[in-house]
Amino acid sequence: MSIKDILTVLSFVLSTTAGPVLHGNGGSVPLTQRRSCTNDDGWFDHGMAAERVARDHNKHRNNLMNLQKNCGREAFNEGANILPPMDFTSGLQNKKRQSESLVDEDNDEYWAGRLSIGNPGESFLVNFDTGSADLWVPSTNCTDSQCSPKQKYNSSASSSGVPTSSSFLIKYGDGSSVSGPVWTETVVAAGVKVTAQNFSPVNTLSPMFGNEAADGIFGLAFPAISSMHKTPFLLNAKNQGRVKSATFGIKLAKTKSELYLGGTNPSLYTGDIEYHSVTGKAGYWQTSGGNLVVSNSLIASSLTTIIDSGTTFIYGPPDQVDAMYKSVPDAAPYASMPGFYSFPCISAPSNVAFNWGGKNWTISAANMNAGKVSLTQCVGAIAAKDLGLGKNTWLIGDSFMKNVYTAFSFDNNSVGFATLK
Ligand SMILES: *[C@@H]1O[C@H](CO)[C@@H](O)[C@H](O)[C@H]1NC(C)=O
Ligand SMILES: *[C@@H]1O[C@H](CO)[C@@H](O)[C@H](O)[C@H]1NC(C)=O
Ligand SMILES: *[C@@H]1O[C@H](CO)[C@@H](O)[C@H](O)[C@H]1NC(C)=O
Ligand SMILES: *[C@@H]1O[C@H](CO)[C@@H](O)[C@H](O)[C@H]1NC(C)=O
Repeated sequence: MSIKDILTVLSFVLSTTAGPVLHGNGGSVPLTQRRSCTNDDGWFDHGMAAERVARDHNKHRNNLMNLQKNCGREAFNEGANILPPMDFTSGLQNKKRQSESLVDEDNDEYWAGRLSIGNPGESFLVNFDTGSADLWVPSTNCTDSQCSPKQKYNSSASSSGVPTSSSFLIKYGDGSSVSGPVWTETVVAAGVKVTAQNFSPVNTLSPMFGNEAADGIFGLAFPAISSMHKTPFLLNAKNQGRVKSATFGIKLAKTKSELYLGGTNPSLYTGDIEYHSVTGKAGYWQTSGGNLVVSNSLIASSLTTIIDSGTTFIYGPPDQVDAMYKSVPDAAPYASMPGFYSFPCISAPSNVAFNWGGKNWTISAANMNAGKVSLTQCVGAIAAKDLGLGKNTWLIGDSFMKNVYTAFSFDNNSVGFATLK
């Protein structure tokens, strides 16, 4: 037996003797959501929603381009294709959004938390994103104006940073990009310390990140969609003996939101976690065999579903989304936001659910309601959009995740849901 085999057996024994992958010696990062697409008075923020749709589109376009580069087109979901980029800067709505952000300094709309990079540790606020797979923060070498309000990684102030020969690049539809060299560094998140973690200290930062409170992004998906194509943080943590289980759990809610690294946090859910195997080679936390139900009717079946904490809404194929809203009393396409639907606020549906052959995981009326657009009408959180991710494929974001506790396991390649406590 080689040392590697012994270690593999040992880590297997450690993870199994610890019982099911419930909680390892991991820890949690509190998450805050400072802003959503619903403003404080409950109105739907059109400009922000339009910007979000474009961002989601372009993020997944980049993921597909990375997937093609890393694994070839044979890794694509059936029917997946790289769509043209969506422009952020066009349209009155984005101008409105930009002017709003000038008066609102604290408008981070994602689920952000802290981690530290370097020795001694330099602290960053990052968006934890299960729909992408790279870790990047601005570098002191970034001279773009949008870098100036951010925390920046200073390689001269750290004894543990090592440059590699690789580089990192994400391109956006407006021609802007996020790019920089790839370094290895000590990264600590939730008390879990990993050495020689690949990350990018970026020296160009697209203006689309200028509005955000977060400094960078911590992608939590698989290397297949990563620009760096390197081992994810949590697998390194397990390999380095820092956690027993390469599993993480997420709770997204108004209060007590957190990311748990190295297991799940049983104090936040009740009952068992219903796990489903990750399917396909697309690099996402993706499962198959999903069903969309409204009350007693099955609306769509055999769905491929991607769980993405970095996406606000839920996007599905237009015909299926339309069929779903036909079961919602008085719902109709919302002309001002293509792909979105509106309904009377008082009848926001509380009976829309996804299931994967087990429990029905229902979306609450509050989470189905993305905000008021008139005194009586509200916009729904499920929108009809083809992001090129594949046939029958749904991108399931925070509007769903806020209803459940979600577990993501690299150990047995599965995504699970549990009932929030
Ligand atoms: C994944 O691991 C958990 C915890 O050990 C287990 O309960 C679950 O059944 C597993 N799921 C799959 C799909 O293997
Ligand atoms: C910043 O730039 C300096 C000078 O070019 C270089 O030596 C250093 O490696 C760069 N640091 C990072 C993190 O890119
Ligand atoms: C980076 O750190 C070095 C060493 O501590 C310090 O001299 C330098 O001023 C720092 N640079 C920036 C831009 O903060
Ligand atoms: C889920 O909802 C569908 C449609 O109402 C129903 O047929 C099915 O029995 C439900 N499943 C469970 C496990 O309750």
